Amino acid sequence: MPETDTPQETLATRSVGRRFFAWTRTIRAQVGLALGVLFLLLTGSVAYTLYQLDLRKHDYEILNLAGQLRVTSHAMSNQAQNYLKDTPTDYQAYYRDLRLFYGDLQRNVALYDKIIKGFEDRRLDSELTGKHDPIYCTWDERSKSQLSRTALVWRNFRAGMFKQLGEDLDQPRLNYAAEYIVAHGPELTEASNKLATAFQSMMEGKLAMISLFNRVVLGLAAVLMLGLVALIYFNLVRPLRQTVSGFARVARGDFGHQVEVRTGNEIGQMTQAFNQLSKRIHALFRLTDRINQGNTLDDSLRFAAEEFRGFLPVDWVGLFFQSADGERWVLERQHDTGPKSLREGGHFTLAGKQPQPTAPLNIADLGQYSDDGDLFAALHRHGFASATLLPLTGSADSRALLAFASRQPNSYTPEHVEFLANVAGQLTHALDKTVFLENLVVAAVQGLAKLAESRDPETGDHLLRMALYAAIVAEELGENGQYRDRIDSAYVREVFQFAPMHDIGKVGIADHILLKPGRLDDEQRRDMERHPSIGAEVLRRCESQVNGLGYSIFQVAIEIAECHHEKFNGGGYPRGLQGEDIPLSARIVAVADVFDALTSKRPYKEAWPVERALALLDEESGNHFDPEVVAAFRRALPRAMEVYNRHKHV
Ligand code: C2E
Ligand code: SIN
Ligand code: SIN
Ligand code: FE
Ligand code: FE
Repeated sequence: MPETDTPQETLATRSVGRRFFAWTRTIRAQVGLALGVLFLLLTGSVAYTLYQLDLRKHDYEILNLAGQLRVTSHAMSNQAQNYLKDTPTDYQAYYRDLRLFYGDLQRNVALYDKIIKGFEDRRLDSELTGKHDPIYCTWDERSKSQLSRTALVWRNFRAGMFKQLGEDLDQPRLNYAAEYIVAHGPELTEASNKLATAFQSMMEGKLAMISLFNRVVLGLAAVLMLGLVALIYFNLVRPLRQTVSGFARVARGDFGHQVEVRTGNEIGQMTQAFNQLSKRIHALFRLTDRINQGNTLDDSLRFAAEEFRGFLPVDWVGLFFQSADGERWVLERQHDTGPKSLREGGHFTLAGKQPQPTAPLNIADLGQYSDDGDLFAALHRHGFASATLLPLTGSADSRALLAFASRQPNSYTPEHVEFLANVAGQLTHALDKTVFLENLVVAAVQGLAKLAESRDPETGDHLLRMALYAAIVAEELGENGQYRDRIDSAYVREVFQFAPMHDIGKVGIADHILLKPGRLDDEQRRDMERHPSIGAEVLRRCESQVNGLGYSIFQVAIEIAECHHEKFNGGGYPRGLQGEDIPLSARIVAVADVFDALTSKRPYKEAWPVERALALLDEESGNHFDPEVVAAFRRALPRAMEVYNRHKHV
């Protein structure tokens, strides 16, 4: 096996790289880096300059000594000239001048020697400089070669001069020496001058270097500063201005307004957070608005699922009310994306949790729960992996629980839960209203259905049975077959709720027809066939009443009442509608109604056995009935038989 990075190491390296990349995009990093480089440049430049200037302090000493060489060579020439020019006549003066000249000459030669030697050794002792410490010097190429040339000129000059002075230095031949000095002095002076000039230009060169260095550093610093200003403008000032104007727009009520995110730095992050805030505010307003306009709990839950889907993983929403004993939660209503769902009206416990939570609960892994009757276990059995529960305690006497579930594990973060906790109040008020309204609708519907029943003493449990058959068929159609996508649990509920109102129009039929023990004659039959239109008319009046209040409630009820005697082949009444033109709810109710009428005793007929009724459904499939609906009834027959046996005609 070749030795390579383990995946973890590669991953770790990559994530460190990614984190570093993210860090470089922050203003903190960019401004910090720019300021750091600027600081290094400037302090570096200052330190370098100070160091160089400190070194240059010695340059003055060196120049001074080079100057002394010039002065000395010059002095020797002058003194020699003077010596030759005014040779005094009287002995006394001659002797004095001789000693003076000779003494000067010796001092000058010694000084010149010492300076040249110091230069050549690159070490100037305190004797020369008057400083405590010796000065060490460095020479550039030009100074070095000039120094050796000047030293050579000096040594030749010195040797030539001493030759003229003669063997006996107590009786030096000063005249010869003076003549030699006068003759060769200019050469030495020139060599001394050249050395001084070489030193000077070396030092000027160094100063020019320092100056150039400082200029380059200042130029770099200026460019860096410009970059910094641009950085601050483009990454800070401008995005900030845009974000501020975005804030202002949202503050003026343009909720949901999104500011363009141009940078990945702190401002970009702030803008993103702001955009999310704006989006949430917008969704919340829209949600409250939609719930206020909506008139059913189903609408409210659907809106909650739709609007929250922007911020939360939501595959299922359920609303629970507390059971009478306060220990369990009853599923009042649910909204889901899949076909299967929990049983509405079912009682659930919250395993391992206090039965009446006061704060949101986050269940990261529903798979841990398996108790029978436990909500988390039930959700897990239906394919959900995580859930969050939000207690709604708005109304004093009723406690509710809003549950969100997701098919992915660990879907809900503390931020999600916090968000839900914050919007709980809004939801409570909005839901309270629809719950109240639904209770009102249920009461009204039951009242109307009872009214219909009261005119028809023989029907017994007909309304309950046919409503259950209709709901069972609708549920089956929602799970299999070509109408699957058209039917959700809300539709099933409406069919169940409104099926009992199919014959409400019989209130308008005279007793002698309605209660006739035998077969109806043709005229009575025509009269009887008015009951769907009468029922639709009654319900349309109810609907326009509630429309006036801003709600729509009886739409499906009207369809059912008006069309439950239409036939799939167009041979029914009152309008002779055909196939898909007949509302699906009415096609469902037709099968449920006839099956129950056949298997029940009527004033005009005996109850049929189930087999015979089923045979008639098959026979009429495609004629009287929608074949899809008959097939669904067949598939759901075991459940229908439970209803039949439980509520069989007395
Ligand atoms: P219903 O008694 O609730 O019957 C509903 C529907 O079930 C009927 O609609 C019919 O399609 C079917 N149905 C009921 N009994 C039989 C039956 O013995 N054989 C067959 N093949 N189908 C049956 P329909 O016929 O439009 O009748 C509507 C309503 O009119 C009935 O409601 C009932 O209240 C009344 N009605 C119908 N025929 C008679 C009758 O001969 N005598 C009396 N007194 N009432 C009748
Ligand atoms: C149901 O969905 O009908 C009941 C929930 C369960 O316990 O699985
Ligand atoms: C429902 O409420 O969804 C239908 C009732 C039932 O099937 O018993
Ligand atoms: Fe009818
Ligand atoms: Fe009926």
